[in-house]
Amino acid sequence: MTAYDLVASRVSIGPKLQTDEAVSDAELEKLYQAAMTAPDHGNLNPYRFLTIRGAAREKLGDIFAEAARQRDPDIDPAKVEKDRLKPLRSPVVIAIIAKITPDHPKAPRIEQVLTAGMAGYNMILAAQAQGLGAIWLSGAPAYDANVLSALGVGENEEMLGFVYVGRPKREIAGPRRADWRNHVSEWTGA
Ligand SMILES: Cc1cc2nc3c(=O)[nH]c(=O)nc-3n(C[C@H](O)[C@H](O)[C@H](O)COP(=O)(O)O)c2cc1C
Repeated sequence: MTAYDLVASRVSIGPKLQTDEAVSDAELEKLYQAAMTAPDHGNLNPYRFLTIRGAAREKLGDIFAEAARQRDPDIDPAKVEKDRLKPLRSPVVIAIIAKITPDHPKAPRIEQVLTAGMAGYNMILAAQAQGLGAIWLSGAPAYDANVLSALGVGENEEMLGFVYVGRPKREIAGPRRADWRNHVSEWTGA
C-alpha cells in the first residue's frame, strides 16, 4: 500500500469493531513516533499523551462515572454505567493533550492546538498502517473539569480527546466521503 492509499482509505474503527487483543509496546511506540512528525511551528512539541491500558482503564471509567454524577445528580444510573464502561471498550486509550506555550512570539495558541491535533491524527494513521484500528472520541468526559483535574490536565493545556486503539474485528470499508469539489475553489486574485 502506498502512503497515498493509506491516507485515502483512512477510516475510524470504533470500539465495537475492535477485539480485546492487546496492542504491543512496539506498536504503540510507532504511534508515538508518528505523532512526533506533526508539523510544528517553533518546534514546541506542544502535546503530551497519556497511555491508559489494563486496570488503569477501570480507574478512568470510575472517573468518567463520578464526573457524570457530578454533572447531573439526577442522572439515570444506566448512563453512569455506560460512562464507566467507556474506557474498557478498547485495549488502549490514549488521551491527547495540547500543551500550550502561552504568548509564544511566533506560534499562537491555535497553531499549537493544531499541531497537537495533527499529532493525534498521525497516531490514527500509524495505527491503520500497522493493521490496528483507532478512533478519536471526545464526548462530555473530555471537557469535564473533574475528569481533567483527575488526569492532571494543567492550566495551559487542552484535552483534545481520547484515541481508542485496538485490533479490527474485520476489514472495514470507509464511508462515502465528501466530494472534494464542494470544498475547493480557485482563487485567482480577481
Ligand atoms: C477531536 C475529535 C473528537 C471527536 N469526538 C467524537 C465523539 O465524541 N463521538 C463520535 O461519535 N465521534 C467523534 N469524532 C469523530 C470520529 O473520530 C470519526 O471521525 C467519525 O466517527 C467518522 O468516521 P471516519 O473518521 O471514518 O470518517 C471526533 C473526531 C475528532 C477529530
